[in-house]
Amino acid sequence: MSSFKKHILVTGGAGFIGSHLVRRLVNRYPDYRIVNLDALTYAGNLANLSDVATASNYIFCKADIRDSTALDRVFADYGITHVIHLAAESHVDRSISNPLAFVETNVVGTANLLNAALRFWDSDFADRRFYHVSTDEVYGSLGEEGFFTEETPYDPRSPYSASKAASDHLVRAYFHTYGLPILISNCSNNYGPFQFPEKLIPLMIRNIRLEKPLPVYGDGLYTRDWLWVEDHAAAMDLILHESAPGKTYNIGGNNEWKNIDLVRLLCRIMDEALDRQAGSSEQLITFVKDRPGHDKRYAIDATRIQSELGWEPTVFMEEGLRKTVQWYLDHQQWLDDVTSGAYQSYYEDQYANR
Ligand code: NAD
Ligand code: DAU
Repeated sequence: MSSFKKHILVTGGAGFIGSHLVRRLVNRYPDYRIVNLDALTYAGNLANLSDVATASNYIFCKADIRDSTALDRVFADYGITHVIHLAAESHVDRSISNPLAFVETNVVGTANLLNAALRFWDSDFADRRFYHVSTDEVYGSLGEEGFFTEETPYDPRSPYSASKAASDHLVRAYFHTYGLPILISNCSNNYGPFQFPEKLIPLMIRNIRLEKPLPVYGDGLYTRDWLWVEDHAAAMDLILHESAPGKTYNIGGNNEWKNIDLVRLLCRIMDEALDRQAGSSEQLITFVKDRPGHDKRYAIDATRIQSELGWEPTVFMEEGLRKTVQWYLDHQQWLDDVTSGAYQSYYEDQYANR
């Protein structure tokens, strides 16, 4: 008989957001066993979790959510009681060049995981949860005004967001059809340490340091709502513990930035951090060909999670960006490791004709 109160399967725990969530759960809940299942794609890195790797309530399990036999084995071997599902192909630009990979992992992989939970729990759903971590991109693109609420109709416009929308629909269908006790959250853009440098903020930090061009898509007036990644982990922790099955929560930072303004702020912070002449990094800004189907603006109305669960973002943008910049400057080896090899050829292909 296990002494752990909950056996939590976190998928994608070696990635950016997953690693922050795993660290939080391992440290806060010694009486839970945290099983981190990850295929270790280019985006997964066990170095992200070196500080908790030997914790007695932590287990890493290399497996692929496209492999249903492997999932059945993990549920049985570890007596899984709760799932927090983050494993996904997560980069919009990659979804444009290889959409099928997104269907296979994000849609089929999620269906495999739902089926594994359904089989293993066998209609006994007392103190069970299947928590699916999704994105605000499922709602599509906003004009100058308005916010995404939990009632906003789905209108995904990239292969990535379409695959996440499909997975959200499947998760809700398993709630209505089989009574699986699901939860969903849709979050805005995260930033912070350990983010793979294909995404805007770490890509710009890396290029500023190397004095390489800063590729701003289109006119740079696209708007995103940014959230410190540990605030997202805190929200997921609350939702897992406090929310009733079947519920959806939007999570956002109430922190909108046009890309060009954000890149300029990063340039200013990096000039100070690197002791460069004020204004020198801005000279690297280069407007490049736009992303096809580029969503104009995302903005989250997070009233539900604030009023029902008392969650609030705690880290404000300039402070969070300074911490992020410092982390990347202090972790040059991490950056070199993840940008060697396959990333080099992705970067060259992606930015060759822009
Ligand atoms: P990430 O790309 O950094 O990490 C994804 C992780 O999933 C990696 O560790 C990777 O190895 C793993 N993975 C990929 N395919 C897998 C497979 N077939 N089987 C098992 N593991 C696999 O992604 P992230 O930015 O940390 O995002 C995590 C989740 O949060 C995703 O579901 C994403 O859609 C969602 N999300 C991300 C953001 C954001 O701003 N990054 C915002 C809202 C929601
Ligand atoms: O909104 C949540 C989503 O945020 C998550 O679901 C995704 O997993 C995550 O990747 C992120 O998607 P975005 O497409 O918003 O993030 P990205 O960092 O790729 O781009 C942010 C903005 O910056 C977007 O408007 C495109 C622009 N951009 C991006 C890159 C990589 C550039 O201008 N230049 C670039 O080189």
